[in-house]
Amino acid sequence: MKKPILLAIESSCDDTAVAIVKGNSILSNIIGVQHIHNFYGGVSPEIASRCHQREIVLLVQQAIFEAKIVKKQINAVAVTKGPGLIGSLLIGSSFIKSLAMAWRIPIIGIHHIQAHVLSHFIPRRSNPSPSFPFLCLTMSGGHTQIILVENFFRMTILGQTIDDAVGEAFDKIAKVIGLHYPGGIWIDYYAKNGNPKKFIFTKTKIGGLDFSFSGLKTQFFSFIRKELKKDQKFIIHNLYDICASVQKALVDLLFEKIILAIKKTKIFSIALSGGVSANSYVRKKFSKVASKKGWELHLLPIEFTTDNAAMIAISAQIKYARGLFDDLNLITSANCGWNL
Ligand code: KG4
Ligand code: ZN
Repeated sequence: MKKPILLAIESSCDDTAVAIVKGNSILSNIIGVQHIHNFYGGVSPEIASRCHQREIVLLVQQAIFEAKIVKKQINAVAVTKGPGLIGSLLIGSSFIKSLAMAWRIPIIGIHHIQAHVLSHFIPRRSNPSPSFPFLCLTMSGGHTQIILVENFFRMTILGQTIDDAVGEAFDKIAKVIGLHYPGGIWIDYYAKNGNPKKFIFTKTKIGGLDFSFSGLKTQFFSFIRKELKKDQKFIIHNLYDICASVQKALVDLLFEKIILAIKKTKIFSIALSGGVSANSYVRKKFSKVASKKGWELHLLPIEFTTDNAAMIAISAQIKYARGLFDDLNLITSANCGWNL
């Protein structure tokens, strides 16, 4: 049987991403990063929507060109239906609906977080995809969840943040110490040369498998305020150690919950996904403990940790193979329900 060719768009936040896959092979995977938000210290929703609108036609044309196909070979189109910024999502979904109408092909809506989980099924040479069941720790700018993945369609949230997402905490902390958005990357960068034990932050305890990051964030802000009163150049003099210490504190919060989830479920296959899974300390710490305790750890290539359209396209292939299509009434939602 001929392998279906799918075109997918991901536009849930500030990156305009387009990918084309043939079966499981990625023919093109383009990300138009909106650097303009760096100047605002965070994503400006209206600017993000305007940038998506400006870029999307060109990026779709480029993806088709790089895939070395012609439009009429495309069998279906896919798009992120949520969650995310509603203005951004609407650009992607309206555009994909127009393509589906014009090309008379089916449309498939994909849940953004489930796509982050299914990004582990993007084929790659090293580290094969996880077998079911596995636990997926998704850590992004909008979500932090421990998900029990029993099959492609059966995913259960075992725990999640009750306040900020871990990526959001990284970004807000980075902003306070004068680093550019997205701050997680910069904290990771400076932390490499810092002492993670220099400044100690106490953990906010919350029960079960849920997370809380806002307590640590507030504690960090008042620590910085206090130190700046004593020494105006405190941040400049201690940047590396500040980054290493706060990064350790954030990652420790993630880590203790995954240990608990493993204890509770007796599942030793762990997958990390979402932007924060690109963090070098996260990867080092999880790898070290996994090899010591005999866990099966699944790390993504860095390019598939942050938002990308290849994860939407691969998720859509899974639905396509089962004939699970949406129609032009596909609803886009900022707080998209937890269903495939
Ligand atoms: O998954 P993602 O690209 O978008 C969302 O779905 O939110 O995640 C973006 C988040 C941002 O908060 C960014 O600061 C964080 O991922 N991030 C990192 C790193 N790379 C991206 N955080 C820590 N260390 C990194 N290396
Ligand atoms: Zn994401």
